[in-house]
Amino acid sequence: MTILFHLSDLHFGPKFNAHLSELILQDVCAAKPDLTILSGDFTMRARVEEHAQARAYIEKLPPPLLTIPGNHDQPLAPHFGALWERATTPWARYEKYIHATVNASFASAELFVVGVNSNHRIIPGGIWSSSQRQFVEQEFARAPQGVCKIFVTHHHLDWGGKYRPFGVWFPAAQLNWLKGLGVELILNGHTHAPLTAQTAQGIIIAQAGTAMSGRVRHGHGNAYNRIVIDAQTLTIQIMGYDARADRFTRRAEKIFTRQANEEQR
Ligand SMILES: [Fe+2]
Ligand SMILES: [Fe+2]
Repeated sequence: MTILFHLSDLHFGPKFNAHLSELILQDVCAAKPDLTILSGDFTMRARVEEHAQARAYIEKLPPPLLTIPGNHDQPLAPHFGALWERATTPWARYEKYIHATVNASFASAELFVVGVNSNHRIIPGGIWSSSQRQFVEQEFARAPQGVCKIFVTHHHLDWGGKYRPFGVWFPAAQLNWLKGLGVELILNGHTHAPLTAQTAQGIIIAQAGTAMSGRVRHGHGNAYNRIVIDAQTLTIQIMGYDARADRFTRRAEKIFTRQANEEQR
């Protein structure tokens, strides 16, 4: 059995909730998951001090970790220096403080995880380049048969008609491409609204809410995902903050049969 923790949209900076960050840290340390995935928006405005605070926090999380950046992790106006940096070296701060590369992969005996930087310095929404597509294809091609293939992106591929449509561009085409690569599970953040879904292609989507920012949206509170994978099933648990109990509790759970595995047997 494999256990993943999926945190997103930490947003160090204004409205950051340090108390919730401590509760989540305790949860992750107690569970010692096989992998903790952080799907972007570590900061509010990509300020150096926000990045440094995010670095100090993720240092405390038990390894292994897989991170990708979010749209808030590249410098933004108002001052000219930030705009210049966004135009020339948009990911320098992320690469200095969070992880050396904006695209990343992780392999274990049960998992093969590939994450891409879905952000563009000008174009809103999720987009990736042909070289990133090549990276994803090459990485998944070296995954051993039978592992659970997971794709991580900051922007959403499926928004169920409920949220503003600034997700990944041409989502149906991207989902078909990911299905062809054998992806079973997609993890994303960005909307600050937890969601579990299965696409027409049969891919499971687990979208995490904001773990510890006061920027909650659409009536959703703070939340993270706990994911359990075994040979037959893939379980997504949305762990939401319960103010009365002052801890994160299981708010929803969906259990999926692993179709890819069935086809391989
Ligand atoms: Fe966010
Ligand atoms: Fe975002």
